[in-house]
Amino acid sequence: MNAENVTIRLEPLAVELETPRGELLIAGLSGHGIEFPCGGTGTCGGCGVRVVAGSLPVTEPDLEYFTTEQIADGWRLACQARAEMPLVLECGQWHMDVLSDNSGMLGAGKTGLGIAIDLGTTTIATQMIDLATGDVLAVETNLNPQASFGSDVMSRIRAALAGDDLTTVVRGALGQMIASLAHGREKEVVEVILVGNTVMHHLFCGLDVEPLAHAPFHSPNLGVQRFKPTDLGWTLPVNCAIRFERCLGGFVGSDILAGIVATGMTRGEGLVALVDLGTNGEIAIGNRNGVVCASTAAGPAFEAGSIRMGMRAATGAISYVSLSNGEIHATVIGGTEPRGICGSGLVDAVAAGLKSGAILTSGRVANGTKLFPIAGPVVLYQPDIRELQLAKGAIASGFKLLLNRLDANARELKNIHLAGAFGNYVQIESAIDIGLIEVPQELVHAAGNTALRGAKMLLLAAEEPVLPEIEHISLASDPNFQDEFANCMTFPEVESVP
Ligand code: FES
Repeated sequence: MNAENVTIRLEPLAVELETPRGELLIAGLSGHGIEFPCGGTGTCGGCGVRVVAGSLPVTEPDLEYFTTEQIADGWRLACQARAEMPLVLECGQWHMDVLSDNSGMLGAGKTGLGIAIDLGTTTIATQMIDLATGDVLAVETNLNPQASFGSDVMSRIRAALAGDDLTTVVRGALGQMIASLAHGREKEVVEVILVGNTVMHHLFCGLDVEPLAHAPFHSPNLGVQRFKPTDLGWTLPVNCAIRFERCLGGFVGSDILAGIVATGMTRGEGLVALVDLGTNGEIAIGNRNGVVCASTAAGPAFEAGSIRMGMRAATGAISYVSLSNGEIHATVIGGTEPRGICGSGLVDAVAAGLKSGAILTSGRVANGTKLFPIAGPVVLYQPDIRELQLAKGAIASGFKLLLNRLDANARELKNIHLAGAFGNYVQIESAIDIGLIEVPQELVHAAGNTALRGAKMLLLAAEEPVLPEIEHISLASDPNFQDEFANCMTFPEVESVP
């Protein structure tokens, strides 16, 4: 190590880096999967790290964002910190619940063990199944170790194109997860199925991600990829069949294919929709006659990423907001003083603002202050509401355009499944109030990890299911896209609550 540098180790991913002694940490940590939502101005509280070894002085913004106990426990804002000595830091952003799946399933006459893997950009969820009975025998979840190359798919693509080996990293991590899942029963594993978005598919399979780096995002390698354990360095029997399921398009991966299987949307006549809300929103709508799907760039608002006081769903985040007798009531994770707001709280807060009349359907704050106070120091700024309008406009317009393709309307839908973590936590009533989805509430359900559930169903199926045609639609090339997007930016009229 250069004497002018200090070593920083980031847990729980065990990422090591060197940074110049006495310099702000933000330069060193950016590019290693740590996000600085307010750009490092010390105003969002989103970059908390806990000092596990070494020490960092307490700064003024630390006192603002952390309780006395948290500061004593070592919590600091990474963007304000300067390292004078080697440090081990635990990254608050890397701790999150990983959505698994508990649904019971029946075996279909196969024998041996199978492993289902949902390879997400942020998290990985795996389950080992007894193929004869359908029983889940073991579950392993983890962070995707590629997070040290950046938190979103675009930064992973950039890292891969710059020559970083993201393939070996993720294959190695999955090999270890499989070893602990199987726990000595590796010899019995006969089949492994992986699902994930198109970038995860390409990086795991060692395919060129260059076509995914620019429009029109057409890769020639969207198909199913099959491997032998030796190809991947996994200690499984030589004849164990491993496959990464096919992608549906440039930004619609096999996680959505598995979701289509999990929701059973292709089994009946009724129209069913699957919506996965994230930075990249994915939508599939269809029935036994066919499915249309698309991705839409919603941006990070649903994860509160672009919101001034936005933060992940961690201690101090406002996660729910309600309106009663004209007063805003906020629920804070951990029951502490509020420090910021996460995605579900944001949707609730805007819904409450619309109901109280404090936010107009145009998105403008009614009293002209450009501030919508929620609780304690947490407020929404006018541009935050705009960010949510852009995100909900992207999803709602995508939804409408897909329905148009099917020559259908929202009243014909029999069921809408909201997949993924955000879909699990958002209050459906609030999502409807802001116009994210415009259907009766009783049709909308939080569907959990449909990718993992679908992967398990594919494992258990006696043979690969025959699905109707799944057509990938490029929304950006639809002539009505811009108009529909602009229409969907406004909020609907909601019944005001006194
Ligand atoms: S990035 Fe550190 S407080 Fe916002």
